[in-house]
Amino acid sequence: MLEELTLQFGIPGAVGFVPGVNGLPKAMLSHQSGATAEIYLHGAHVTSWRAVGGDDLLFMSAASAFEAGKPIRGGIPVIFPQFGGGPLPAHGFARLTEWEPTLSAVEENGDVECVLHLEDTPATRQLWPHPFRLELAVTLAARALAVRMTVENSGAAPFSFTAALHTYFSVADVRRVAVRGLRGVTYLDTLRDDARAVETPEAITFSAETDRIYVAAPDVVQVEDASRRRTITIHKHNMPDVVVWNPWTAKAQRMPDFGDTEYPRMVCVETGHVAEPHAVPAGGVWQGSTRFRVS
Ligand code: BG6
Repeated sequence: MLEELTLQFGIPGAVGFVPGVNGLPKAMLSHQSGATAEIYLHGAHVTSWRAVGGDDLLFMSAASAFEAGKPIRGGIPVIFPQFGGGPLPAHGFARLTEWEPTLSAVEENGDVECVLHLEDTPATRQLWPHPFRLELAVTLAARALAVRMTVENSGAAPFSFTAALHTYFSVADVRRVAVRGLRGVTYLDTLRDDARAVETPEAITFSAETDRIYVAAPDVVQVEDASRRRTITIHKHNMPDVVVWNPWTAKAQRMPDFGDTEYPRMVCVETGHVAEPHAVPAGGVWQGSTRFRVS
């Protein structure tokens, strides 16, 4: 399988396919600057992103599962067609399913792109009775990573979905992290039965479990890691909402695939269509994207 993938989608020096943890296939992207990224076909899950000379910008839990039917904990889980709980498995089935590469390319400016897709199968239709095609395009630049999600309704009836890029950023100590750009935005506090409140401080800081959906948030949000003197600028497009999450101590202990003491080293700042489902008419297409830039 890896040989076939390499033959079809490999680009010497830029895109390769190798066995990842437990032999699960992953794509390795290499930019001429030295930046790298890794994407598991399981979930089209980005598990690593490094700019040249730097450590990983994404957090991965040492306790993560890497097996069929289970989500990977860390990186960028792709959430579709259901954010959070509901009739489907938590956060939908896209992160639990094997995707296939569609194309790979080195663009004229040197950026490296890998596109993967997922289509409905008898198994997905049993959970969610809609024909669809989902595409994830990951583009690696020298100091940026862009992820574009496309949802196509290939059926004859409309459907609605919620979706997100559930990005886990690696931070030195979440107690010294500030998330900026959400002041004045209304959020739903998942820890208080979705009570509505308006963000008032200039920056969000962390001293307890935090789980909030910022509704119709501005398109630019920054994650400042004071300890590492590093800022990640998140630039989203056509993804209205931002979710900010850190499980802190008690929830970390309740999660079997997350280490009890790992919470200070991560923060999730997620982008997507989360607060309200988005409707796609028969034959219609929705596209949303997020670009992460490190400085
Ligand atoms: C976040 C939710 O997006 O994902 C949290 O806001 C949830 O409530 C977290 O705990 C992790 O979810 P999961 O299904 O990956 O454990």
